[in-house]
Amino acid sequence: MDNQQLLGLIDKMTLEEKIAQLVQLAAPFYEGADDEGQITGPMQAMGITDSMVASSGSILGYAGAAGAIAVQEAHLAKNPHGIPLLFMADIVHGFKTIFPVPLAIGCSWDTELAERSAEIAAREAAVSGIHVTFAPMVDLVRDPRWGRVMESTGEDPYLNSLFARAFVRGLQGDDLQAEAERVAACVKHFAAYGASEAGRDYNTVDLSERQLREYYLPAYKAALDEGCEMVMTSFNTIDGIPASANEKLMRDLLREEWKFDGVLISDWGAVKELIPHGVAEDEREAAYRAIRAGVDIEMMTACYVHELPELVRGGQVDEALVDESVLRILQLKNKLGLFERPHRGANPEREAEVVFSREHREAAYELATKSTVLLKNDGVLPIRPEAKVALIGPFANSGDILGPWSWSGSTEDAVRLDGALAERLGAGNLIVAEGCGIESGTEQQLREALEAAVQADVIVLALGEASEMSGEAGCRTDIRLPQAQLELVALIAELRKPTAAVLFNGRPLDLHGVYDKLGAVVEAWFPGSEGGAAVADILIGAVNPSARLSMSFPHSVGQVPVYYNHFNTGRPLGADDAQVRYVSQYLDAPNDPLLPFGFGLSYTTFEYGSLKLSSDKLPGDSRLTVSIDVTNTGERAGTETVQLYIRDIAGEVVRPVRELKGFVKLDLAPGEVGTAVFTLGEEQLRYHHADLSFKSDPGRFDVFVGRSSLDTQQGSFVLTNA
Ligand code: GLC
Repeated sequence: MDNQQLLGLIDKMTLEEKIAQLVQLAAPFYEGADDEGQITGPMQAMGITDSMVASSGSILGYAGAAGAIAVQEAHLAKNPHGIPLLFMADIVHGFKTIFPVPLAIGCSWDTELAERSAEIAAREAAVSGIHVTFAPMVDLVRDPRWGRVMESTGEDPYLNSLFARAFVRGLQGDDLQAEAERVAACVKHFAAYGASEAGRDYNTVDLSERQLREYYLPAYKAALDEGCEMVMTSFNTIDGIPASANEKLMRDLLREEWKFDGVLISDWGAVKELIPHGVAEDEREAAYRAIRAGVDIEMMTACYVHELPELVRGGQVDEALVDESVLRILQLKNKLGLFERPHRGANPEREAEVVFSREHREAAYELATKSTVLLKNDGVLPIRPEAKVALIGPFANSGDILGPWSWSGSTEDAVRLDGALAERLGAGNLIVAEGCGIESGTEQQLREALEAAVQADVIVLALGEASEMSGEAGCRTDIRLPQAQLELVALIAELRKPTAAVLFNGRPLDLHGVYDKLGAVVEAWFPGSEGGAAVADILIGAVNPSARLSMSFPHSVGQVPVYYNHFNTGRPLGADDAQVRYVSQYLDAPNDPLLPFGFGLSYTTFEYGSLKLSSDKLPGDSRLTVSIDVTNTGERAGTETVQLYIRDIAGEVVRPVRELKGFVKLDLAPGEVGTAVFTLGEEQLRYHHADLSFKSDPGRFDVFVGRSSLDTQQGSFVLTNA
């Protein structure tokens, strides 16, 4: 259909039928749905009539090719104008084949694999009847107390933007109309949900517009520049106004300044939540404020269907606003080809063929090996052949390694660490004991753990958080491992045997009692369907870990938020200020995190040569080349992620001590020398000035190149006007 035909269709619709297109309901409301689908928020009585359902625009959280076909058929039979439903769901890091959680993918620094993971997720979802996914989540995160950091790619706007683009490319492909096995993407949560105060979900966000534009907005913009079809509002306030009613954010910035003309959907219940937020007296005012802000689809509440007809007929809301929203929704359905092919990619045969296929699981395995970070290793790892290994801990034999957003993924299908290690070491070389549960344990379990440990040459402690200890509404004020696990670590450490911990968790943890007590620590995050195999291959050295942290690990929650691109302050703590009092510091902890952004170890070693700059001046219209040689000085091949940061020494506003502006991954054989080459241009030195204009200033810049944000070599150059 062309736009004229869509407009003609809208002209035939009654006001109630138009408004029903703005409604999104979960599966239980629909005939033909053979299960309740994925419920990801509070279910409440909504006063939805059958006729509203018959005219509704989209269904949330339902998948399965045959069921989706049945639901669509039943819906088309009832819809007065034959308008098909949009099927939307959360495919955040995999559909049935679950990839590592996005925070882990962020640590891979591998946008190609990220794109591939999204393409596979889209294919599995599309053949199962999904048209739109609520991903990528690109909220910048700095507070590990917040449960949803696992859903983000981390604390850096540049890296998050690269991943945002990669995920959108993988999900949408080049032509949604032609490629039925792709899905439309919906970037979320707009905006700055990751800045929720005190790391408590749904809490207040209050940032300067400069902070918003400099750090929190770039990744959303990157997703939209990549063609992302939809945007989801966030639960939080921005400058005192909840996002779903925030006309400055949604009309002025998103629609006017960024020229986004796609569909804007509220998060679950976020329209009606304008009432508890305190910016709407009742559903009528909530509907009024949301439609004026340009929210096209109200997810899982019914303010629009209950109140918009009278608001329009009473003249408080111009019907043109409703028509605008309906047109955007119909345009998306049209772009997906749903008017001609209402079942789009839903195909039981293809579903049986591609969902959870070997090829997909191999991709999940590869990404899991690239996302697992070696945080410490005094030589315990890799486990030498023939060693007798004791595998102890609540994650020794756990399928709960898919993370809290794995919906269609099944923990039963996940490759568990004990089976994977037994396969690789030989069952006779592996002793397994649970040692304790996730949050509690028994003397008996500890005794069995000790019995296993004393027989072993090497001990592997498989520890972590249950998936529901992170994710949405999974916030924690104490980000250490649960006490029972810390007691297990302390007991095993007493044996003074070579011991490595493997962590399965959704956030940077306070690793007191683990990092200081054990010889090796591996961060596996929630590694997905093939997690056990990926971790086992890293533990035995079949894979050399190459991941680098995309979010800082604090010494303790008392340091939070702690992130690499912080400001210097007027009294920075210098290297030789140990005894000085009146500087910006703590009395009881260092300022730097335990493990900084960009950190990660390898089983080999890399030596950096001297930093070379093509000039010490950068005229505004030219490029500066920065290069450095890197030698693999170890015994085995490895991948080094060489990172380039800048620092603007004097801006019109304060500038961070480091800003990531590029990275190069070098695969090097033992003894091989590689050269990391970067180019810098004036456009990479721009920032938001006091008046929010985005531009660079002539002046001195430091440039840092190295293996993490805190382990670099330094050079400098001057940006000149010439
Ligand atoms: C949830 C989440 C959002 C998700 C939506 C639909 O509340 O905040 O990320 O896409 O509801 O499941």
